[in-house]
Amino acid sequence: MVNSARLGPIPALRPPGAMLACTGPGRPLSLDRMAGQGASAGLRYPPAPVDPAGLAAALRPFGASTTLPPAAYVDPAVFAWEQRCFFGRGWTCAGFSSLVARPGDQRAEPAGTGSVLLARDDAGTLRAFANTCRHRGHELLPAGESARHNAIICPYHSWTYDLDGGLRFAAGFPRGGLDPLAWGLTALPVAEWHGLIFVDGSGGAAGPLAGALAELEPVIAPYEPERLVIAGRHRYDAAANWKVLTENYHECYHCPAIHPELCRVSPPQSGENYPARGAWIGGWMDLRPGMATMSLDGTSRVPALRGLDAARRRTVIYVNVFPNVLLSLHPDYVMTHRLVPLAADRTMIECVWSFAPEAAARPGFDPAYAVDFWDLTNRQDWRACESVQRGLSGEHARPGPLAPGEDAVYQFITMVGRGYRGEPAWNHGPAGAVASSPE
Ligand code: FES
Ligand SMILES: [Fe+2]
Repeated sequence: MVNSARLGPIPALRPPGAMLACTGPGRPLSLDRMAGQGASAGLRYPPAPVDPAGLAAALRPFGASTTLPPAAYVDPAVFAWEQRCFFGRGWTCAGFSSLVARPGDQRAEPAGTGSVLLARDDAGTLRAFANTCRHRGHELLPAGESARHNAIICPYHSWTYDLDGGLRFAAGFPRGGLDPLAWGLTALPVAEWHGLIFVDGSGGAAGPLAGALAELEPVIAPYEPERLVIAGRHRYDAAANWKVLTENYHECYHCPAIHPELCRVSPPQSGENYPARGAWIGGWMDLRPGMATMSLDGTSRVPALRGLDAARRRTVIYVNVFPNVLLSLHPDYVMTHRLVPLAADRTMIECVWSFAPEAAARPGFDPAYAVDFWDLTNRQDWRACESVQRGLSGEHARPGPLAPGEDAVYQFITMVGRGYRGEPAWNHGPAGAVASSPE
């Protein structure tokens, strides 16, 4: 439960949700606005190919539940469902605003089973499109690459689109022969949230992103992540399922065994988790007395971020924006992990470290004190997660019980489990609350 006296009240805002069919790539979207039961709970998907008895066990109340069935982490059919539904039909993070900051900036990023093209227009408005040319489907940019032009140009036959997606020119067609609107790029809802870019692959059924994250806003806002500048960036390829990585993020039960450096600066049993409602999960941990931040010696090289109260200067907040962002809010910097699932047993992780611009501009500024600490810790985590993945791949793997300190893992598992079962997935709140509708 959150210590709301320390970290500020969380307003109770709950926006409407919607039901969505995503039974396969290329199927038309079927939207069913849920004015009642689905309200405030997020999208609904068709059931995933996961053993119902195993899901029912994972959705029991906290203390009586188990982890998800091992197939959820290793079965390519489950992974394909997740790509279509969790990552393809709803808000997912597609990167950082700073990568498409100027008019004409373009970047392609993986999203679900395909990819999206992000483009900043001349007025500064960010747009997102399916990264698929309307002629014969060539990608407009390879995923992971950037470009800067005053138009979007397909590399195959050079169809040229305006930055708002309208078709400007198609070689060989008579002028006026193609309707620029009818043959424009497929636009997707896009939102910038504290310096992160989110795209809604459902085409709008997910509702406003701000609604899904309304209760997270007062937790994040004091850190002003949108104001910070990225001073460190690592890309990791982990041989583990994205959920194994996320579950690992949500508990420090493992810290005494594999993170001696972390335990020297932050007590592994400190802190509590928020009663999160919406598309997020999170909690906080203390810094030990005398430790200023998460670094190898517990010291910081820059002042604390402006605007943080006394409690936040002694605390590190860990938040998961479902499904693919992990935000770690320190007194003096913000670390962001963006997970991009590549296969059931492979995940690309983009990790960036962001600092106040006035700190990064100081002579001799070096982010290594933060980057090196977390790079070491990240690698300890990935090594453990890769072992979990191998363990879950054996035919004798079975679901296990969760420890009392794994209540945020429970919140994550139950979000995933509800989504698998075709129920609205959003987090309900405190561990031990109603985990799912009755069988
Ligand atoms: S596929 Fe893009 S111009 Fe032909
Ligand atoms: Fe860890």
